[in-house]
Amino acid sequence: MTTDTVSPKDRIIVALDVPHVDEARALIKKLGDSVGVFKIGLELIYAGGLALAEELAKDGHRVFLDAKLLDIEATVERATAAIAKTGAHFLTVHATDRKTLNAAVRGRGDSALKLLGVTVLTNLDRSDLSEQGIDMPPLALVQERARLSQDAGFDGIVASGKEAAALHERLRNFLIVTPGIRQAGTDVQDQTRVVTPTIAVQSGADYLVIGRPITRADDPRAAAQEIAEEIAGAIEAG
Ligand code: C5P
Repeated sequence: MTTDTVSPKDRIIVALDVPHVDEARALIKKLGDSVGVFKIGLELIYAGGLALAEELAKDGHRVFLDAKLLDIEATVERATAAIAKTGAHFLTVHATDRKTLNAAVRGRGDSALKLLGVTVLTNLDRSDLSEQGIDMPPLALVQERARLSQDAGFDGIVASGKEAAALHERLRNFLIVTPGIRQAGTDVQDQTRVVTPTIAVQSGADYLVIGRPITRADDPRAAAQEIAEEIAGAIEAG
């Protein structure tokens, strides 16, 4: 699997982090075809986002359902099967253990749904892991869970730009989806470990998850186009 043939704009996943579907619809309209994928996360999922996902998929858009599933196997399997029916393109699942990952793979069946493992949430540090009884630095756990995800038949993982380079070297034919993107010299807001679109691409990110730099811009479409140009430049520079 490779994103070599995916156009720069189609490598942008825009995070629709808004509380109401009406606001999401307004944003989608403004963005038009300037981005490749619309990400619907937990906030919007619980506010009519699933119906919106289905509607967008029917209209030919790519939808990223950031549902971060984790439960007993039967539940993960059935939830994944239900999500596959919406026509979503990507789904996130916590990559904590083989049982969860295998259940998601069974639930996807022969649908086109791409499964992405959430390895270690980037807000957790070593002391948070130790609270969970895990005595290992976050990056080592990220690498272990990424390998588990690939072994189970997942399509990729979500990883910060800082982790992407280390993962890219070890995992071939595996998608790396990177959030925490900020253009050079812009406001990082509450993100701490940010990378620029150029660095993300150079580190091996296949898709870039971008929220506020696009959604809060005066002209979201122009902001997306500017980022797509930066991605194109980074790809060209190799
Ligand atoms: O607005 P911003 O570009 O910071 O949004 C980033 C998006 O990526 C949000 O939807 C956030 O939930 C998501 N995300 C993240 N960091 C992670 C995983 C997901 O910021 N480690």
